[in-house]
Amino acid sequence: MAAIDFTERVAIVTGAGAGLGRDYAIELAKRGAKVVVNDLGGTGDGKGSSQAAADRVADEIKAAGGTAVPNYDDVSIPAGGENIVNTALDNFGRVDILINNAGILRDKSFVKMDEETWDVVLKVHLKGTYNVTRPAFTHMREHRYGRIVVTSSISGLIGNFGQSNYAAAKVGLAGLVNVLKLEGDKYNIKVNVIVPTAGTRLTANVMPSEMFEQLKPEHVTPAVLYLCSEQCRDSGRYIKAMNGYYSRLAIVIGPGRHFEKMPTPEEIMANWDKITDLEGAKFFNDVNEFMAFVVGSRIQLQ
Ligand code: NAI
Repeated sequence: MAAIDFTERVAIVTGAGAGLGRDYAIELAKRGAKVVVNDLGGTGDGKGSSQAAADRVADEIKAAGGTAVPNYDDVSIPAGGENIVNTALDNFGRVDILINNAGILRDKSFVKMDEETWDVVLKVHLKGTYNVTRPAFTHMREHRYGRIVVTSSISGLIGNFGQSNYAAAKVGLAGLVNVLKLEGDKYNIKVNVIVPTAGTRLTANVMPSEMFEQLKPEHVTPAVLYLCSEQCRDSGRYIKAMNGYYSRLAIVIGPGRHFEKMPTPEEIMANWDKITDLEGAKFFNDVNEFMAFVVGSRIQLQ
């Protein structure tokens, strides 16, 4: 089995001052990557800032013999994204790997979800990923190489009470990856989604303490490092990783039911079980593949 090695690779990890991002940064550096340790250093709900978090992790990497530079920019503003990518270019001359990991939570039931609470969470996760990925992707396209990891969540992909802002952002990110996998294809830019679960500051108040202790960030890292490797040829995959469990999530489309004539609402009702059945559901890589499948298999609508 070929070893996964990041010597000469330059990686950016956003939100790397704590939790999952810290572990990704440390393990990338152990395998030779030069790492930009980005972290705004605010609270778990996105207030304030401090340089201490990014400094601590960059120092930890350097003390262990690795190469790292701290960056304190806010991913949620476009200039922050540009600065993060420029930190990699100015210090190390290139960007090969980007892990979009920075995140905050502001949970509220939907009726109490005021505009500011909605906007701030979308701004960090969804817009933040756009802000950093766009300059990185532009550089990677020029150099015809890139590995990008985007962080989603089962809170969005499956659903979790009280997290409508976070869920919308996290599923939006999965949509972004569905497109970037296509746009990056001919440039050898692979873009994948990590769907982690781990005991960190973000989950400290939502997980029972026993679970919190058990679910270590270290268990997510091997999957993320593989997605960052040259050996990873897949793109557009959503990978769940937690506590020794790794699997693929996907958006699939059921076989459905074809009607020879336009159905009435009553016929939709009568066929609801067949229409919604997922037995034999298929994954499609893009819209064209899906359209060919549907149009190719259906009888002309009268
Ligand atoms: P964490 O709170 O330990 O780490 C997140 C880091 O992002 C913090 O150090 C924080 O300062 C930084 N950050 C926040 N806003 C930022 C901004 N605007 N610019 C730059 N840095 C910023 O939390 P954790 O759990 O390690 O979260 C990492 C990612 O994983 C997040 O995107 C989170 O939504 C996601 N995630 C975590 C899960 C878990 O079970 N811990 C589950 C699903 C997703």
